[in-house]
Amino acid sequence: MNVIDAIKERYAVRNYQTKDVEEDKLKRVLGAARWAPSAYNRQEWRFVIVRDSSTRQKLTKTAHGQEFVGQAPVVIAACATDTSRIMPCGQVAYPIELAIAIDHMTLKAVEEGLGSCWIGDFEEDEVKKILDIPDQIRVVILLPLGYPVQAVSPSLPKKRKKLNEIVTYDKWR
Ligand SMILES: Cc1cc2nc3c(=O)[nH]c(=O)nc-3n(C[C@H](O)[C@H](O)[C@H](O)COP(=O)(O)O)c2cc1C
Repeated sequence: MNVIDAIKERYAVRNYQTKDVEEDKLKRVLGAARWAPSAYNRQEWRFVIVRDSSTRQKLTKTAHGQEFVGQAPVVIAACATDTSRIMPCGQVAYPIELAIAIDHMTLKAVEEGLGSCWIGDFEEDEVKKILDIPDQIRVVILLPLGYPVQAVSPSLPKKRKKLNEIVTYDKWR
């Protein structure tokens, strides 16, 4: 699959089949995160994979009852293991690094016939308690992963700004 096809086909899947995700497929999705770039190639990330049904239900509660989170057969808690790095440009590195790794997974998931949804609406402290994640670690995103009920986004065409609304050449205009 072409990268641009995966980018266009990916959508926020909020309805999953009960069918389990094969371990080899999951490994390939996780492998895509592994290849993500990071500042100084630090790779300060850890991904906690949750397949257990009752744990997924607990995670759903931390996500303010977004039922589809636990409906997915796999939930990935994407964590940053070092949050201290501030780049010379002033930006904190870890949310950027984790976002790249997570995006790689969402795109690889599409190629594998799977769907996912970025979840930022969750209570981090509760997730940490459920998954025994140490205090100094940050949980950046929860990512439910599974076979989508609908292969294609139910809300097409996708709403995106036009290129000329987000790009200027040579100077800010
Ligand atoms: C950082 C981030 C956090 C998000 N958090 C949630 C969330 O908590 N719940 C949810 O249903 N969707 C969440 N989304 C999904 C967005 O709503 C969705 O990606 C956006 O509306 C564009 O739709 P599309 O992904 O189908 O193209 C999140 C997306 C991003 C990138």
